[in-house]
Amino acid sequence: MKGGRATNGSRDDFEDEEVAKKVRASLAVHSSFWPEAACLDIEAEVDGLSQLARGGRFRAKTLDRTPLRSKYFFGYGYTYGSQISKKGEEQILPPELIDPVPDWIYLKLILPLEEKGLVPEGWLNSAVVNDYRPGGMIVSHIDPPKLFARPIFITSFFAEGRLVFGSRFSFPNKGGAPETTSPKCVCPMPRGSLTVMDGFSADGITHGIRPQDLDGRRVSIVLRHVFPNAPRVPQPPTASNVVAKIPLPLAASAAPAWGVESALPEAREAGHAGHAGEAGDHVACDRGAVAVRAAPKAEEEIDEFGRRRRKPGGKVSYEGETCDSGIPRAGTAAMSEKQRAALARLQKRKTKGSRSRSIRR
Ligand code: OGA
Ligand code: MN
Repeated sequence: MKGGRATNGSRDDFEDEEVAKKVRASLAVHSSFWPEAACLDIEAEVDGLSQLARGGRFRAKTLDRTPLRSKYFFGYGYTYGSQISKKGEEQILPPELIDPVPDWIYLKLILPLEEKGLVPEGWLNSAVVNDYRPGGMIVSHIDPPKLFARPIFITSFFAEGRLVFGSRFSFPNKGGAPETTSPKCVCPMPRGSLTVMDGFSADGITHGIRPQDLDGRRVSIVLRHVFPNAPRVPQPPTASNVVAKIPLPLAASAAPAWGVESALPEAREAGHAGHAGEAGDHVACDRGAVAVRAAPKAEEEIDEFGRRRRKPGGKVSYEGETCDSGIPRAGTAAMSEKQRAALARLQKRKTKGSRSRSIRR
């Protein structure tokens, strides 16, 4: 049924009441989940990322930069948009190409969710930072269900953004603004909010953000659980990646061998509405053919999340900055007592090699 109320920020939008009801029943927006001080702190950390990016300090596939938005993949990266030929073919990239989840994201974003009992400890193993400039967007899509468990958590910083459901995007003017159909539901995500997407809102309808849905520069940090058996970019055995299959003492048994399973037909079926290309903001990218950089150095053991584990107590390079492990890097905002204790626990677990934060499905 058409003719719902006009919605925030977009005077011309009229929701589809029935669809909007279903979206709102399966989507929770917690406003002020992060109060002002926490927002400022997290926003300073985000600005730190762009500085590291300018210095070229990230691994090959951590950062995907276009004029209107920068996308950072931590923990896991995946092929998407123009990098795939068909919806449903998204695949996890080799972990060597992606930086681990930074400690500040764990401490300031993931830990509060764990402490509130929203997720089991260790379950969130991927963080994507979307830094949208004014005029930026994300075309309508469904987060690939083969890759990501539900619920999906979206956090918002710097400015409000509105998530629009059921709006179709087209690009009649190459490289220009998109043409979009009226969304069936518009959900404001204010600065400092946590949006939890599950059920119908996650799987039954597409979501996206049009340029008019961003009130200036906005950063979202999307927190998700990547299935350990998600389809992966197939890697031919080479001298550099075969090491992951050899039971070296430091190559963690959890380190996935790049399987041939992703080449199987069932892994290739386009089973959902699709993570459509981020048209207008994508970069030309090699399709599937991902060069594997050198295997992790011996002291860089891989943990159960596919992240590189830092050598306890040693001088290590992290995000390109050298620091003593356990001590915040220069530029990192001061930590609270609670965060310090959590970081100490995290370091202890890493040192002991405990599996207590093993991936749960
Ligand atoms: C995504 C997504 C929404 C946002 O990255 O899949 O839907 O608010 N992002 O950035
Ligand atoms: Mn999404």
